[in-house]
Amino acid sequence: MKIAVAKEQDPAEPRVAATPDTVKKLKALGAEVAVEPGAGLKSGLPDSDFTAAGATVTADALKDADVVFKVKRPEASELASYKRGALVLAIMDPYGNDAALKSMADAGIAAFAMELMPRITRAQVMDVLSSQANLAGYRAVIDGAETFGRAMPMMMTAAGTVPAAKVFIMGVGVAGLQAIATARRLGAIVTATDVRPATKEQVESLGAKFLAVEDEEFKNAQTAGGYAKEMSKEYQAKQAALTAEHIKKQDIVITTALIPGRPAPRLVTAEMVKSMKPGSVLVDLAVERGGNVEGAVPGQIVEIDGVKIVGYTNVAGRVAASASALYARNLLSFFETMVNKEKALAVNWDDELVKATALTRDGAVVHPNFQPKSA
Ligand code: NAI
Repeated sequence: MKIAVAKEQDPAEPRVAATPDTVKKLKALGAEVAVEPGAGLKSGLPDSDFTAAGATVTADALKDADVVFKVKRPEASELASYKRGALVLAIMDPYGNDAALKSMADAGIAAFAMELMPRITRAQVMDVLSSQANLAGYRAVIDGAETFGRAMPMMMTAAGTVPAAKVFIMGVGVAGLQAIATARRLGAIVTATDVRPATKEQVESLGAKFLAVEDEEFKNAQTAGGYAKEMSKEYQAKQAALTAEHIKKQDIVITTALIPGRPAPRLVTAEMVKSMKPGSVLVDLAVERGGNVEGAVPGQIVEIDGVKIVGYTNVAGRVAASASALYARNLLSFFETMVNKEKALAVNWDDELVKATALTRDGAVVHPNFQPKSA
């Protein structure tokens, strides 16, 4: 059983899919582990750390690997070095990427999309969305605080009082909850909003104030899977009116709202941005999925009339060492379910975790949600 840890080809991806700690555990499962040179460098993990953990560091790591651990989906150009039949575990970003799924099917790999892991108790330890969103929520507040020209906590000094910053978190999933906790720790006055009613209590338990249009639609806005539904035009208009009044008074706004498989909802209009005081900051964590804030640009800080919109991408990657450590544990935990007592690879294709995440196998796209549209 040969496992390869790939070096990410995207220069903007600093994370790595294994750490010396997980390499040791993979070896204990009976695997040989080969790491591509420099794979962990941007996460503070030199090749020598992997060698010390028992891995081989070689440029040929992928060539005969039965399993490939990766952060991002392998591009068509990379797939030539993968063995047919190899299992590939990564964040596959499958929605709207039919051509990429087809190239993986054509390459004969079995691709598993870690982000499709069901949110059930058994799979919590494999939940990459949670592990990465948690760090992104933390980092969004740090980035917001860095861009903001004032202090976050209230400070009473001999020279006068600095008021506490007002921070508004829009979208209270995993990232939003961590953003609330982080902003509170920095001493800000925090408010938050979401369309799922279950979040109200969570917000309040973190010491922040909840703000939302709490009508009938709101009461039913959560799917059985715990995700938000796309809200009606009417609800969005009411939500926008409430937000517009509130946002004017905020110093930092952090948006994290997402709907699985859909573009991110537009929560902050250009007009709302204009209504904010110069020096205020918006951090749009949804910028890669279309953006919650009008005018946000992926990878840039845009300034409009003195208000800055931070659009950093791959925000979890801005805390690369921590993000890699957690991601590597997520992968290890999923992989453990694919190894039998005899320390051999034994994927149970009927397991619900496998069924939910397997995108391609034996030359075809097998996931029901991503079937090629028949001509
Ligand atoms: P997400 O990343 O899909 O979305 C972020 C947040 O945006 C969500 O809270 C969503 O309700 C909110 N949102 C969507 N549209 C909005 C709008 N128009 N206005 C305001 N907010 C809007 O969500 P995430 O972080 O993946 O969490 C979703 C749920 O899954 C949460 O309830 C979380 O606690 C739960 N969860 C359960 C796990 C488990 O049971 N194993 C593990 C992780 C999360």
